[in-house]
Amino acid sequence: MSDETEVTPEDGEREVCMCFHVPLNKIAKYVRLHRPPLASELAHCYGAGTGCGWCIPFLTKIYDEVMAGEENPSISMSAEEYKARRAQYRKEKGLEE
Ligand code: FES
Repeated sequence: MSDETEVTPEDGEREVCMCFHVPLNKIAKYVRLHRPPLASELAHCYGAGTGCGWCIPFLTKIYDEVMAGEENPSISMSAEEYKARRAQYRKEKGLEE
């Protein structure tokens, strides 16, 4: 049983942009390699953030952390909660699952 706040190797595999199945580690690597001037340029990373828009605040946080030198950016909620909140967001926007 793992603690929710524990950083595990699987964290990097977590999908941040669930619309385009873009995991955290790919986003962080893109920022490290390309150092785009704007977080919105993460759209060039497999389309991250260009679907429903739910992940944009999280993409921006990851972008800010990596640009500041953070080696292990993270999302401060469980994968289950993230998924549930996205479903609620999409419902409120009138988007189908
Ligand atoms: S979860 Fe990234 S655009 Fe929908």
